[in-house]
Amino acid sequence: MMDSNRRQFIKKSVVLGLGATAASGGALAGPAPDAHAGRFDFNGPVTISSRNGTRAVRRAMEEIEAGADALDAVVAGVNLVEEDPSDTSVGYGGLPNADGVVQLDASVMHGPSGRAGGVAALEGVVHASRVALKVLRRSDHVLLVGKGAQEFARMHGFPIQDLMTDTSRRQWLRWKENLSVDDEYLPEHDLEDATIGQADGWNERHWGTVNCNAIDLNGNISGVTTTSGLAFKIPGRVGDSPIIGAGLYVDNEVGAAGSTGRGEANLESLASFLVVERMRAGDTPEEACLFACRRIASRTKPAYLLDVEGRPRFNVQFYALRRDGLVGGAEIWGGRGSFAMADRDGARLVPLAYLFEQS
Ligand code: GLY
Repeated sequence: MMDSNRRQFIKKSVVLGLGATAASGGALAGPAPDAHAGRFDFNGPVTISSRNGTRAVRRAMEEIEAGADALDAVVAGVNLVEEDPSDTSVGYGGLPNADGVVQLDASVMHGPSGRAGGVAALEGVVHASRVALKVLRRSDHVLLVGKGAQEFARMHGFPIQDLMTDTSRRQWLRWKENLSVDDEYLPEHDLEDATIGQADGWNERHWGTVNCNAIDLNGNISGVTTTSGLAFKIPGRVGDSPIIGAGLYVDNEVGAAGSTGRGEANLESLASFLVVERMRAGDTPEEACLFACRRIASRTKPAYLLDVEGRPRFNVQFYALRRDGLVGGAEIWGGRGSFAMADRDGARLVPLAYLFEQS
């Protein structure tokens, strides 16, 4: 809670006109010192998302055409994915952590106000993106985690429920029973089976997520990223999705970027911020996304994360939208990947650029 001294200070600051701009003699007043500011003319609404957000971009465009702010539109869009039990990477039915508990991460960012909100390791709430939006609109904070995030959600009337579906529970059980031969959990087997409990090749990690960014009828830009994170993660693990600058970044004068894939790699490069800054410096969205992929590839050092040619043994995708409506995306490993977009010509899938071709 804001203490009364602080409230008084804020009140006085507003009355007296104190603040960074006044205090610094006006040095921060006026447009950003940026050669490209204002260079990108608004050309109409557009939405972009990860491939699993085809319905999200369509819904977001409908909301925008009906007059919604881009932030409300993208959250309404990804809510469809969060509610969908068949998407095991987001919201209800998302794959759980190692203890069999679904922990969700999400963030939102609003271009016109520059404000952000996020939740991490949130349990029991289907629409993590809506809780992130509440953090932005109804708190003086940017990120709430764990129990505190859940209590905040409860306070605002969000129902708390079990997010496991029978499908996600079975997948988690299969992972647990096949993880090691040195524990007591056994998968189904018969008396002749001599290899029970050995990793069966299915134990590859899953990093699904949905990111959605949009520009609305007023030329304002916002974005959201929401996920159940890495499947079977260590309880409490937080990925890139709720971290502003990593899983999401928006600048109303330039554009927006978001990410899916191995969050740890992105956390170490804050690459959504990087993508937006590259667009500010003149890159197209696709060029900026490829730049971020290269940055991650070159910064990855642990041998267990590299193949024999020194390339990352994981994938990360970026999706970007520039203020003039140009969209693009890229991934480290590709050839078959795509992103979803919608504009006044409808919704469609567009190929992702890539650094290395997947065999
Ligand atoms: N990019 C999603 C995650 O790593 O959790």
